[in-house]
Amino acid sequence: KKIKVFAPATVANVGPGFDIFGLALEGIGDELEVSLRDDSAIKIHPIEEYENLPTDPDLNVAGVAIKALLKELDSQQGFEIVIRKRVMPGSGLGSSASSSAAAAYAANELLGSPFSKKELVRFAMEGERATSGKAHADNVTPSLLGGFTLVRSYGPLDVVSIPYPKELYVAVVHPQIEVKTADSKRILKREVALEMAISQWGNVAGLVAGLASGDFDLIGRSLEDHIVEPIRSVLIPGYAEAKHQAIVSGALGCNISGSGPSIFALTEGKATAEKVARAFDEYYTDLGIDHKVYVSGIN
Ligand code: HSE
Repeated sequence: KKIKVFAPATVANVGPGFDIFGLALEGIGDELEVSLRDDSAIKIHPIEEYENLPTDPDLNVAGVAIKALLKELDSQQGFEIVIRKRVMPGSGLGSSASSSAAAAYAANELLGSPFSKKELVRFAMEGERATSGKAHADNVTPSLLGGFTLVRSYGPLDVVSIPYPKELYVAVVHPQIEVKTADSKRILKREVALEMAISQWGNVAGLVAGLASGDFDLIGRSLEDHIVEPIRSVLIPGYAEAKHQAIVSGALGCNISGSGPSIFALTEGKATAEKVARAFDEYYTDLGIDHKVYVSGIN
């Protein structure tokens, strides 16, 4: 028995929600073909552009996620996994999360669905631990559940879907320089001043309220991140100007996608997202930096 699964790329943090917010991009993500083997081996075959990904199941995030699931079931089942990656690793668009989520989902299906999608987050997170050193769940959760999600708590894990207006669109630019999540986590400060925390949780709550009520203006007012963005943005060439371009093109707000270097902007409607994507494209073309732009709904 063989199944083909797709898990979307994601934008994590979404402004103020470091390690807790994430959204799923429509139609962009990784595709896996997974089948059961007659023995206990886990064989991984990355194909096409990213065929140099690790094939050792202890190093490849798909293998790590499946092994975490098998451990919980106390199972020795082997799997054959073909990975077709569409999102470049190290882009800040949840590339590893997409493969981890797809692998956990596919293995669960092939084993008769012993776990719910929410329960699979736990296993997919282990793939994140393998690449970034920390099992953050803000990319794997929207990749598994779709839509806009919140990791309310890590201990115990509690993930929640947040309603959002259907006209919310995302424009993304990926300047093609690699920023490793592990590195961009290391440079963060360990402590936050109370005043800064107050502004941050104001925005976190404002964003949830804006999403749930479909108040685009409130969504826009709540997208600033006082804690992580000022530190990480220095790793992204042209960040301040790209953000300025997004805002003057009509974006509600703009911030770093995950740990970067991708930059995302939220817009009301697809036409504005296309306009922002054109502005990103022109700006990075002028800078002479290779880049890719995406326009996407949230799904
Ligand atoms: N929340 C994680 C971080 C996401 O910002 O490091 C990584 O994509």
